[in-house]
Amino acid sequence: MDGINVDYDGLIPNNVGLADDPSLRKALETWHPGYIAWWKDMGPEGFQDALVYLRTAVSVDPQGWAKFGFVKMPDYKWGVLLAPAVPGRTIPFGKHIGEPAWQEVPGEYRAMLRRLIVIQGDTEPASVEQQRHLGATAPSLYDLRNLFQVNVEEGRHLWAMVYLLQKYFGTQGREEAEELLHRRSGHQDTPRMLGAFNERTPDWLSFFMFTTFTDRDGKMQLAALAQSAFDPLSRTCRFMLTEEAHHMFVGETGVARIVEKTCEVMKTHGVSDPEAVRALGAIDLPLIQRKINLHYSLTLDLFGNEISTNAANAFNSGIKGRYREDKLTDDHQLLDATYPVLRCIAGQIVEQQVPALSALRLRDDFIADTIGGVGRWNRVIEKSGIDFRLTLPHQAHNRHIGEFAGIETDTAGNVLTSEQWAARRDEFLPTSADAGFIAELMQPVHTVGDYASWIAAPKTGIDGKPGDYEYVKIYE
Ligand SMILES: [Fe+2]
Ligand SMILES: [Fe+2]
Repeated sequence: MDGINVDYDGLIPNNVGLADDPSLRKALETWHPGYIAWWKDMGPEGFQDALVYLRTAVSVDPQGWAKFGFVKMPDYKWGVLLAPAVPGRTIPFGKHIGEPAWQEVPGEYRAMLRRLIVIQGDTEPASVEQQRHLGATAPSLYDLRNLFQVNVEEGRHLWAMVYLLQKYFGTQGREEAEELLHRRSGHQDTPRMLGAFNERTPDWLSFFMFTTFTDRDGKMQLAALAQSAFDPLSRTCRFMLTEEAHHMFVGETGVARIVEKTCEVMKTHGVSDPEAVRALGAIDLPLIQRKINLHYSLTLDLFGNEISTNAANAFNSGIKGRYREDKLTDDHQLLDATYPVLRCIAGQIVEQQVPALSALRLRDDFIADTIGGVGRWNRVIEKSGIDFRLTLPHQAHNRHIGEFAGIETDTAGNVLTSEQWAARRDEFLPTSADAGFIAELMQPVHTVGDYASWIAAPKTGIDGKPGDYEYVKIYE
């Protein structure tokens, strides 16, 4: 009884016919208290009683799926939502191309599918944990609300993956669902599964960079899984992508508003020296560049090795496609195709043609997708007439996973000796002085309509509301 509209009658809102599936319903209801306990323990600190103007999915119709209203976050309606089934959908790539999409998990791919779902699922609560202290230093109520919107939706994405694990993976799936509530971002003994999700997100500049770059990795992963032969996974990811767009919007416009404010301060006061910009309560452009270098390279690491047999297997078996597989015009099997990959050979960066099946092309699609966002930041700078350009560093820069893990380069991709790297590292990446400045700068602004000194007001508010709307009612 899958439908467009969401059933709100039970404990768990859903459009997957939970009312008619007692054993699954019981499994999810059993998991629910642990989830709420996790949210109260590891979700946004200090704001569990605040009323937040949040959107909640009430349908999966792309035209108007959400409604807005004030809700206390622990009462948010987290649920299980799948995009509508495509009648007669066939597998779009790999060795099973053209066969009917799977409605159940084929035994031979069970382990691979489960692992991919667990890895995706693990990133969702991880980012909530990473961002849980940010409420204390929000630059405005508008931004505070956006943070919480991202957080509750990452919580919902965890529900999406847990639904798949519990419905399709039996006892092991239920165990994995429990584990997803027990790992903790940055924990010494039980960390989250991927590196970037164990890093700290200590301040709002980091948050906006994270949502720009790392949530965009999420988008790419979801887009690749949305092509999957396993139809429930495909449908889950398609709906998650609808929500994900807002996260990248928050990040990209967040950085754009910081850049706008910095340029305004530079022009008004006729200053360009970073120290002078900082003295005026704004964030200097070179520091923004160093943050880009850091978050971009951390996110590139998330894609894994440049050449990967896992990726080849996942593609060949039909489990994980390419970004916009349906828009690509090759044979979608890639048995004889090659693909150009940057490699590190004898300490030098060279391009090599490798079998397309094992080339991790998704990272290139991510890079292409990211360039547009940086272009929009540069247009803000250009409009103000200031002579400065933000850039993405070379993909070999500051990498710790994959081909370039063993070398150091500058941001243009010139290989450096370790001495040269040590001497120039602070040019490229945020320094402890940067961190100290940012930590001091970040003071909460909770007055309706006010914005911190380092960020411009948004052009428009949320849901047609003005920028000076009381998006979060804080009871202190
Ligand atoms: Fe997510
Ligand atoms: Fe996200």
